[in-house]
Amino acid sequence: MKADTILVIGANGQIGTALLPRLQTLYGEGAVIATDLRLPARQTGRFEILDATDAKGLAELVRRHGITQIYHLAAVLSAKGEADPLWAWNLNMQTLLNVLEVSRTEGVKKVFIPSSIAAFGEHAPQTDTPQNAYLDPATVYGISKAAGENWGQYYVKRYGLDVRSLRYPGIISYEALPGGGTTDYAVAIFHEAVQGRNYECFLAENTRLPMMYMDDALRATLELMEAPAGQLTVRTSYNLAGFSFTPAELTTAIRHHFPDFSVTYKPDFRQAIAESWPRSIDDSVARQDWGWKPAYDLNRMTYEMIANLTAVYGRTDKVVETFKV
Ligand code: SER
Repeated sequence: MKADTILVIGANGQIGTALLPRLQTLYGEGAVIATDLRLPARQTGRFEILDATDAKGLAELVRRHGITQIYHLAAVLSAKGEADPLWAWNLNMQTLLNVLEVSRTEGVKKVFIPSSIAAFGEHAPQTDTPQNAYLDPATVYGISKAAGENWGQYYVKRYGLDVRSLRYPGIISYEALPGGGTTDYAVAIFHEAVQGRNYECFLAENTRLPMMYMDDALRATLELMEAPAGQLTVRTSYNLAGFSFTPAELTTAIRHHFPDFSVTYKPDFRQAIAESWPRSIDDSVARQDWGWKPAYDLNRMTYEMIANLTAVYGRTDKVVETFKV
């Protein structure tokens, strides 16, 4: 067991919910302090209510527990942020700056801050978007991520704080729902399919986006955090890729398990957001620096999602048992 005390901010969110048990296994249940605005429906381990916009409350908690690592996972995502841009900016940036400042002043050793494919905009190449492509994000969420990456690097260079970051693609998971993102369709579609319902998709059928299964996203996060600092050449945020697909391709993969499943398309404002993002990501620097390699592709992810959600919803009749990874 490692001798660290870990703070997770935004522990009830899509990533936090799945990351928490991994951290508890790695560091011991008593060494992980989960926080969010509300208590979770099901609580395991240590949990405290924390509003990370409250710098004093955050500092008090970090001191009281002798926190040595912070995972800052609280954020307003791309689609939700567009409804109230200044609120989204304030929340995303205030929490980030509070985390960086408290880490500097209280001697926190390592900090993880997520960035996103949303940091890229129309002047980045959309195919195999390189690590150092131009960042001109189209959403307030993307602007906050691009700024956040640079703040992270600033704290590394100016104060020697060990800040690490990944540009997550859309993350697909069964543990907790994402909220307010543009890639959420790729999670919602499974919930409908597994319950025997059809799905109305808010993106057009040929909209290709980079995605990743949660298991890979968690492994990437933990591998990056474990990597020797000297190996890390990127201190803004690492490009990270799993696989890319369109809603039509995902539908085909799901129909392998549920042949009657069908999808209709009704693109809304999220279509323009999706079109401003990369279609695929070049993550060769992450592969080189700390050995990143994804394990899941579209079919393996689809199988895992259906198997796990089928258990959640109690339908065992329709999963194709012959699928081989
Ligand atoms: N999944 C996020 C979103 O759709 C992108 O980081 O907003």
